[in-house]
Amino acid sequence: MRVISVVGARPQFVKLAPISHMFAKGNVEHIIVHTGQHYDPEMSDSFFEHLNIPRPDFNLGIGSGSHAAQTGSMLEPLEKVFQDTNPDWVLAYGDTNSTLATAISAVKIHKRLAHLEAGLRSFNRAMPEEHNRILTDHAADLLLAPTQIAMEHLANEGLAERSMLVGDVMTDVCLQIARDNEGAFNLPDGLTSGNYYLATIHRAENTDHEDRLNHVIRTLSGMDFPVVLTVHPRLASRAESFGISLDEGNIVPIGPLSYPEMVSATAQARGVITDSGGLQKEAFLVHTPCVTLRTETEWVETVDSGVNLVDADATSAQAIDFIKGLEGSTWPTLMPYGTGDAALHVMNALLTR
Ligand code: UD1
Repeated sequence: MRVISVVGARPQFVKLAPISHMFAKGNVEHIIVHTGQHYDPEMSDSFFEHLNIPRPDFNLGIGSGSHAAQTGSMLEPLEKVFQDTNPDWVLAYGDTNSTLATAISAVKIHKRLAHLEAGLRSFNRAMPEEHNRILTDHAADLLLAPTQIAMEHLANEGLAERSMLVGDVMTDVCLQIARDNEGAFNLPDGLTSGNYYLATIHRAENTDHEDRLNHVIRTLSGMDFPVVLTVHPRLASRAESFGISLDEGNIVPIGPLSYPEMVSATAQARGVITDSGGLQKEAFLVHTPCVTLRTETEWVETVDSGVNLVDADATSAQAIDFIKGLEGSTWPTLMPYGTGDAALHVMNALLTR
């Protein structure tokens, strides 16, 4: 079996890691295409290196641009790669512009398309990612869902027959790295384990409006312990253009971390404050309380378990109270994201369909 994986942005590299390791074990012929959506070394190369992923076979070098420019410029080169390599499956990951371009390019020339992380919904139509996921799910031949709730969303949209529950591949890699204690995070001077918060902010709805970004920075800067903020390029560029300083109050801004450092930084933090999808789940897996600065989440299981407060308008006081309230409490034992064997289920699904 020959499978082409198409990735382009940071969270997709994380999902690619367990898949590429499993395919190597299972003797699946695996071709990796990097669209180039993320291109800074610490947003891209670092993930291939630290997660032991083979170098991409193709790099399309697309780079930044508007949604249309970014998505559109991927279509033609992807079509050519799919035609030239003739895979049994094209595998699309998650919800980025690279995901949507993969879906459109593959199905129009009748290449079988599988969508990894299918069925997630925020029900927020203002999010570009929500359109990317829905359009990709409806185009795909095989929908690989991470959770039971994702399966239910797919069934509600008439896609049950093409759907399979495989578990969450990000859980595979997060649990393995946490267990092997890889890549310890070197705490910035003066910080100790358990006495800092970890924060990331990158979603357009938080970064691209001055008032909104001011609110987010106020929440972070008013926390009662230092807040290590790993700065995504989108946040850096929007903050600079609005003249907003990230070096406020208790905030300690640092550059993006490697994935193993991020898992370690999450596990040692007293709490996480984020708008990332993946980080909410990683916090859940390593038993760190999370405050999500969004109006909703796709990973509702973390909220139902009582360890993730989702509130776009959360103030520092509310975030502090929520995280303090979980101190010393027993962590939920449910494993809604699987036990770390999702990549195996993905490979079996592709082999048997
Ligand atoms: C993208 C995905 C989002 C995912 C996120 C993870 C879409 C619509 N969004 O958002 O789903 O959660 O990646 O990070 O696909 N930039 C750099 N260097 C880089 C990459 C980006 O400087 O290596 C800057 C550029 O100025 C660019 C901006 O960051 O315009 C945003 O990048 P973009 O790829 O548009 O989206 P993300 O916000 O990263």
